[in-house]
Amino acid sequence: MITVIANLKGGSGKSTVAFNLGVWLLKKGHPVAAYDLDPQMTLSDVATVRREEGYSPPLQVYLAQESLAEHLKYHPGEVIVDVGVANMPRMKEAIGVADRVIIPVPPSQPDVWATQRFLKMIKDAVSGENHPEILAFINRADTHHAVRESDEAEEAIKTLSGVTLYPHRLFQRTIYRRSLSEGLSVFELWPNCKAAREINTFASGLYPEIANAVPGR
Ligand SMILES: Nc1ncnc2c1ncn2[C@@H]1O[C@H](COP(=O)(O)OP(=O)(O)OP(=O)(O)O)[C@@H](O)[C@H]1O
Ligand SMILES: [Mg+2]
Repeated sequence: MITVIANLKGGSGKSTVAFNLGVWLLKKGHPVAAYDLDPQMTLSDVATVRREEGYSPPLQVYLAQESLAEHLKYHPGEVIVDVGVANMPRMKEAIGVADRVIIPVPPSQPDVWATQRFLKMIKDAVSGENHPEILAFINRADTHHAVRESDEAEEAIKTLSGVTLYPHRLFQRTIYRRSLSEGLSVFELWPNCKAAREINTFASGLYPEIANAVPGR
């Protein structure tokens, strides 16, 4: 399955989510091909740190290349694609063959507006018979219950056409930043932390068959 993680806005958490999902799949014993289509190459850098530090298993990251769509379709296991708008043609190409697109949305009105605009771009990028599932979720949700912005942003997402709200939020937590800089997923750096649990819930909802698979079969 080809899962593209994308958003118009920078810093919304694409690379963080792509990396943690990729390592989660690897830890489940599932082969993963990750693609970094962003010239900033954050995902590649994290994977390099991971490899240099000797953390196992390594995450194999491929870069943007010619005939991208063909390359993406070639992998038998899970494919995770991290894209930024800095490379628009590649982003459109990836979305054109995606099985699903996951949009991290920080909880603010400008981010909801940007998501709405991005949905229009996805619609233009998707042509022919390919109809990817489009999911948006709240990343960097406030951990304080009294702050209502995440609820409001989720309500706003529900009103947008062409997208489904994915209800498993990821919260604003320092460990996401720290783990990324060390080349580790949040659940490797601190297995019992809240971020580890929320990533597990998040990933299990996206890959239910892999989450429920009996090890060794
Ligand atoms: N839930 C979170 N809590 C705390 N920090 C986060 C969270 N998600 C992402 N971050 C941090 O925010 C910064 C930006 O995240 P990330 O690089 O994943 O975003 P991006 O969408 O890939 O950005 P870009 O558009 O620049 O590629 C990183 O330092 C990352 O660790
Ligand atoms: Mg990024």
